[in-house]
Amino acid sequence: MKIGCPTEIKPQEFRVGLTPNAAREAVAHGHEVVVQAGAGKGAGFEDADYVDAGAAILDTAEDIFATADMIVKVKEPQAGERKMLREGQLLFTYLHLAPDPDQTRDLMESGCTAIAYETVTDRNGGLPLLAPMSEVAGRLAPQVGAWTLQKANGGRGVLMGGVPGVGPARVMVIGGGVVGTHAARIAAGMGADVTVLDRSLPRLRYLDDVFGGTFKTSYASAGNTIDLAREADIVIGAVLIPGAAAPKLISRAQLSEMKPGAALVDVAIDQGGCFETSKATTHQDPVYEVDGIMHYCVANMPGAVARTSTIALGNATMPFMLNLADKGWKQACLDDPHLMEGLNVHAGKLTYYAVGKALGIDVTSPQVILRG
Ligand SMILES: NC(=O)c1ccc[n+]([C@@H]2O[C@H](COP(=O)([O-])OP(=O)(O)OC[C@H]3O[C@@H](n4cnc5c(N)ncnc54)[C@H](O)[C@@H]3O)[C@@H](O)[C@H]2O)c1
Repeated sequence: MKIGCPTEIKPQEFRVGLTPNAAREAVAHGHEVVVQAGAGKGAGFEDADYVDAGAAILDTAEDIFATADMIVKVKEPQAGERKMLREGQLLFTYLHLAPDPDQTRDLMESGCTAIAYETVTDRNGGLPLLAPMSEVAGRLAPQVGAWTLQKANGGRGVLMGGVPGVGPARVMVIGGGVVGTHAARIAAGMGADVTVLDRSLPRLRYLDDVFGGTFKTSYASAGNTIDLAREADIVIGAVLIPGAAAPKLISRAQLSEMKPGAALVDVAIDQGGCFETSKATTHQDPVYEVDGIMHYCVANMPGAVARTSTIALGNATMPFMLNLADKGWKQACLDDPHLMEGLNVHAGKLTYYAVGKALGIDVTSPQVILRG
């Protein structure tokens, strides 16, 4: 198969869909890999790294889309890219179609087969191609929280680990899933006094069993939430209710009960945010203040560490990408029901129920497509 990787063109996107290592493996499997000139630059990969891996460099995105059987990307195709997709071509990338009727229509009209990273599942009910980005955002959250706490950045001027004779920062993490667990581990590693809140008792039990000596746990009742928020230097919002907007867990009125200069880091901002006063910010201008409380609400946190994020995403996507290339998408999906969950669009038909429901479009089941 000919696998093509164009340069990402969405603003502020520095990741790349294929790492040189992934290209090398694809070539070793007998496939041809073409990469757009400069595609890896934002993540610290030179064209020469891809050439060393056995890939060919093409000048333009048009060249890549015109020649490749499978396009591997990071972000959903932008309008100009969608025009270049063609019937029978395979697209493997994040899509997030439910809130995006224009993209859904264009993908259906193109006749391509589109497999979305975010809906591929694993045998534990997890989302293996979303998890690496949650791990990155979680580990980054205490780092940006610590920066926000610095006086010059509007914070309280508190050091995460304290020093001998001066206590550490108090960090509260709401939501103990992938983001929350990684955030808590890093915050504790920086020496902070960390408490994780969740509404799931099984999850709290797991966290207590595994990390009991590293951080504390608390049930996320409204009362516990405000009690801990009053004492917190940093509150990290990491909740997720799948398919729903994030619940608002700290109201504007409650900000006045918190310590002036405390920092809210709302990782759940991509689901609308879990603090009433959250609004999405960018890496250029990440922090703003409301009622004396600093807010960090960057919706694509992994973009700040594009190299780590690219490699982490590549590690997760590579086995699927190789299967798609080795077997063709149809056989790969027949052999792996978790990959089949990723099928969102095929030959003009929408194949993912939640997207159809959100956009009012008829859906054809992937099983029907695969039998056809
Ligand atoms: N901003 C970014 O760049 C970025 C990057 C990655 C992930 N995210 C977002 O981070 C959020 C968390 O993702 P995740 O992968 O950790 O999800 P996850 O499903 O692994 O964990 C979510 C946790 O929240 C808990 N929860 C749900 N409602 C709660 C409530 N009311 N109070 C306390 N806990 C509650 C759940 O029990 C679960 O343990 C999601 O909104 C995700 O989209 C954002």
